[in-house]
Amino acid sequence: MRRIPIEYAREGDILGQTLYNNFGGMLLSKGTILNELIISKLKRHGYYSLYIKDKYTEKNIEEIIKPEMRLRIYELKEEMQGIIRGFDDEKKIDIKGVNKNVMNFNEIIEEIVYETILNKDVLLNLENISVYDDYTLTHSINMMLLSIVIGCDSGFNMYQIKKLAIGCIFHDIGKTFIPIEIINKPEALTDEEFELMKLHTEKGYEFLSNYTDLHAVSRNIALCHHEREDGLGYPRGLKKDEIHIFSKVAAICDVFDALTSDRPYRRALSVHESMEYILACGGGKFSVDLIRTFSNSINIYSKDTLVLLSDGREGVVYEINHGYNTRPKIEIYGEKGRKVTPYTIDLLNKNNILIVKIIHKFSFDIEHSYEEV
Ligand SMILES: [Fe+2]
Repeated sequence: MRRIPIEYAREGDILGQTLYNNFGGMLLSKGTILNELIISKLKRHGYYSLYIKDKYTEKNIEEIIKPEMRLRIYELKEEMQGIIRGFDDEKKIDIKGVNKNVMNFNEIIEEIVYETILNKDVLLNLENISVYDDYTLTHSINMMLLSIVIGCDSGFNMYQIKKLAIGCIFHDIGKTFIPIEIINKPEALTDEEFELMKLHTEKGYEFLSNYTDLHAVSRNIALCHHEREDGLGYPRGLKKDEIHIFSKVAAICDVFDALTSDRPYRRALSVHESMEYILACGGGKFSVDLIRTFSNSINIYSKDTLVLLSDGREGVVYEINHGYNTRPKIEIYGEKGRKVTPYTIDLLNKNNILIVKIIHKFSFDIEHSYEEV
């Protein structure tokens, strides 16, 4: 299974991953055979990319967050937003309801943390976590999954990872207090709107502090996930050691997932491009140590990615060499535009060959071939 830009989707392609609607329900199930009508509908719905299965990428990628779990998270999030929205000055907030909600989230996160750590290698293919639906929800889940992996690779213990994960789920809860027109505005925000948007950090932290018994380090993520190493973040312009390590992990995962997700107003960057962006932030926005952990933990070339090599060969990434994420094992299908009997090479042993770019179709399959993600 691999992600392709929607312009590359063709009649007869098989959908590789279930698509969910804004309410956590199923929109199109995995295995659906695409036709022109479905493709044009998806385009109208604002999809920029799709996951498809083809003869080169037949392996299934497991979904770490099972559909029932995804639905449960959606319900819990709705419940919490409902409590917040129903709260005004004359009415007391339903503290019992809030804490029950947090408790339910804690239970589900416990399960997710174990699943994620067990399936860390699967998750690191990344392609199985980004689906376009309710962006804020999907984004919170993706960011949490990434943070669990980074937390694990940073040597945090299980208790710490759970605190980090629950903090990530609630990191943008403060957005519930910001006018919905600003949250959903597809164009760039005006300065005034941006100032209002920034308040989501303090509002979220205040809410979690006043009405939940979440640990301080988890609440702190809501407050500090937009702080930056160089002091140019918000709301307080904290620097380096003034920012808790959990908030630093949350910040890098927040930015990375936002870059790799399709948004209504822009196409996702590839994992490779997003990683370049993160690396370029070294010493400025994010700490150098954390960037090192992050770039070692995330695979730039996921399993099943089609690639063009510097010697003109084309193939599919079929295995990652852990710790050497730019040097995977490749199954070769073509040489200089000619189809060949498939064979494998290990880039770890071929220092003179580089991956030049990610492609979406092999040149011998179509006329227009090498288009970057
Ligand atoms: Fe945020």
